[in-house]
Amino acid sequence: MLRCPVCRLSLARQGKRYRCVRGHSFDVARSGYVNLPRSGSGRCRGDALAMVRRRRAFLETGHYRPLLEELKRRVPPSHLAQHGLRSLLDVGCGEGYFTAGLAEALAGWEVWGIDISRDAVDVAARRHPEVNFAVAAARDLPILDASVDVAVSTFGPHEPGELRRVLRPGGRLLVASPGARPAGGASENALPRRPAAWPPSGRGSPRRLDPLIISAGEANGTDGTE
Ligand SMILES: C[S@@+](CC[C@H](N)C(=O)[O-])C[C@H]1O[C@@H](n2cnc3c(N)ncnc32)[C@H](O)[C@@H]1O
Ligand SMILES: [Zn+2]
Repeated sequence: MLRCPVCRLSLARQGKRYRCVRGHSFDVARSGYVNLPRSGSGRCRGDALAMVRRRRAFLETGHYRPLLEELKRRVPPSHLAQHGLRSLLDVGCGEGYFTAGLAEALAGWEVWGIDISRDAVDVAARRHPEVNFAVAAARDLPILDASVDVAVSTFGPHEPGELRRVLRPGGRLLVASPGARPAGGASENALPRRPAAWPPSGRGSPRRLDPLIISAGEANGTDGTE
């Protein structure tokens, strides 16, 4: 699933590092994540530790548990019937709340969370050692072409071209973002024409604090909304 950020060939784990056939190698940090920076990857550092901790505290209140459950429901049932190794990629995974929650429901899947913030990924890896995490940019994912069955973006960046590249034919893209439309200008082909509003509005519910939209689309451009 991983590709080398230098030569773009496949990366495989060998002990405490990931290595490609050309010999580029990337150490696994003590907390368990791997740093796969794009060369000249700019100044974006993502969320700082204080922000990561605030989000963790908020997520632990359980307010977004329903969203996690909704994401789980939107993994296509056909994908759950195991045909070989399935894979899920969470782009802009933060401290891994949704990544780990999905991984728990997808036993046997290869699950990766990727975020530009080293602090976020470090917290994620410490907290969820059963999940794979890497530091990398959404714009240049260290992921092989057509190697992902389900790509997820919750309140983070999503680059339509990259998501299309990494998703297998028939793969599913799940996007949750605040506001009336998915953020980031994801391409119409990668997203459904009729997104399902989530959650239902309701006075008194903590959910109404966050108008969300969750949408699901097939990578091949058909409307995957269920
Ligand atoms: C609002 S947080 C959402 C985190 C997580 N998906 C969640 O729902 O809890 C946005 C995340 O996107 C990350 N991010 C921002 N720009 C990024 C980029 N260019 N590539 C990868 N991640 C990025 C931030 O570091 C942050 O962790
Ligand atoms: Zn390489």
